[in-house]
Amino acid sequence: MHAEIARRRTFAIISHPDAGKTTLTEKLLLFGGQIQVAGAVKSNKIKKTATSDWMEIEKQRGISVTTSVMEFDYLPNGAEPSAQPYKVNILDTPGHQDFAEDTFRTLTAVDSVIIVVDGAKGVETQTRKLMTVCRMRKTPVIIFINKMDREGKDPFDLLDELEEELQISVRPLSWPIGQGARFKGVYNIYEQQLNLFTPDKQKVTEKVSVDINAPGELEANVGEDHATHLRDDLELVDGVYPEFNVDDYLNADIAPVFFGSALNNFGVKELLDCFVKIAPSPRTTLAEERTVNPEESKFSGFIFKITANIDPNHRSCIAFCKVCSGRFTRNTPYLQVRTGKTLRFSSPTQFMAQRKETIDEAWPGDIVGLPDSGGTFKIGDTLTEGEIMHFRGLPSFSPEMFKYIENADPMKTKQLQKGIDQLMDEGVAQLFVNQFNGRKIIGTVGQLQFEVIQYRLENEYNARCRWEPISLYKACWIECQPGFEAELENFKKRKYQYMAKDRDGRDVFLADSGYVLSMAQQDFEHIRFHFTSEF
Ligand code: G4P
Repeated sequence: MHAEIARRRTFAIISHPDAGKTTLTEKLLLFGGQIQVAGAVKSNKIKKTATSDWMEIEKQRGISVTTSVMEFDYLPNGAEPSAQPYKVNILDTPGHQDFAEDTFRTLTAVDSVIIVVDGAKGVETQTRKLMTVCRMRKTPVIIFINKMDREGKDPFDLLDELEEELQISVRPLSWPIGQGARFKGVYNIYEQQLNLFTPDKQKVTEKVSVDINAPGELEANVGEDHATHLRDDLELVDGVYPEFNVDDYLNADIAPVFFGSALNNFGVKELLDCFVKIAPSPRTTLAEERTVNPEESKFSGFIFKITANIDPNHRSCIAFCKVCSGRFTRNTPYLQVRTGKTLRFSSPTQFMAQRKETIDEAWPGDIVGLPDSGGTFKIGDTLTEGEIMHFRGLPSFSPEMFKYIENADPMKTKQLQKGIDQLMDEGVAQLFVNQFNGRKIIGTVGQLQFEVIQYRLENEYNARCRWEPISLYKACWIECQPGFEAELENFKKRKYQYMAKDRDGRDVFLADSGYVLSMAQQDFEHIRFHFTSEF
């Protein structure tokens, strides 16, 4: 494999809100030399502009709405100084669950994932949902159990919970010694090294190497009780869990688990060092037509995210392109497969922690920011050197909340239409048009998205909208089994008030209650009701 491809690690950190994703990201940047002081990201999160938070709205609210990318070169402990460093690409994801769909899409652009779990809370709803997407895509996963400096659940209970709730086998690669006030440190099973804990938010903790089999050495460092406990625990770990096999992890059959405290900078370097060694380099990507290998000579990539208004002085968007194969170069003409247009990018950007810079080339695994001043891109767009192929994205999920969107300023109808179109292209929410009355319905995952849409329509498109309530339970995409077209037509006629079209012109049934939906499923047994847009 080409060295530039082999050294890349493109991944996302995901968690339930508050488990410590931002804190862990920040500590990784600290080790990567991208920021000098810990707290730089965190302390700015709410008050000022945070490193990874761009939009005005999130400044106001102190939540991370958009997805950004952070990159750094990294040489793990023990590597030859002359060795080629790893290139770490972290794709940040929104911290708020109303933007879960954004996170799902980001998962289409990563080669692996680190899941952060709060040691006291265990597996939470958002973690479960995100893991479902990882399982669907067979994405390799490493789990970091955070906040070990607080009293939490028993580590063995936590591992059982992970296996059960996330439906994946686990293998601890580090083990905590005590927890909460009695937290002494972590034994690194992978490297067979003991790391002692000295709480420090600002500095990287020194490693103390202890041979746990040397008589008295462990006792001298952690005390008699902890030493006995650790030896017993490790024996049990070895007895219960199979030996760690990297291929099982790469096949997404097993998830290695690390323990630590991101806030106190503990267990993070162990995680990062092991991560760069075992995590996959860019993998093959599935297109409708064929499987694309990163080592192919010709460039291909897809847009997984569009962010508006990064710089409020230039009202432009940035489309994030994941390079899947070949080499992306500046000013080279590329084909936008959906439109057949040839596009050339004079200032593609790459993102460092706190800045962005123009680049001349990018390799598979990299994320390139492509400036877009006029709605050129849609989520899922494929770029190639001329080949007609379409990378498979992630299906849209049936939204959780619905509202009619109405024009609140009749003089600005065009602006509103343009704004809605572009926001939908960015994947901010889903639009359905009721076939009965022609009204537009916006479907979202959470309330916050409605507020973002309204805010952005006003600030970016100078248009005003009004929301009107609609009581809907689910929107489902419908199709019939072959030969039952008449039944489908009959269904559409019967439910004409509840039929809508999505933006691609597909039929969508708007069920106003769970009862109505299950009755429809019973009465029309040859019609399939889908809760994702791809079937
Ligand atoms: P998120 O991005 O997953 O939403 O979580 P974030 O990193 O913002 O962390 C959520 C809270 O948990 C923060 O506290 C953070 O300081 C705390 N935290 C993160 N890692 C650890 C850890 O290892 N141990 C302990 N004890 N706490 C941790 P906050 O009160 O919301 O913010 P702040 O006032 O501390 O900045």
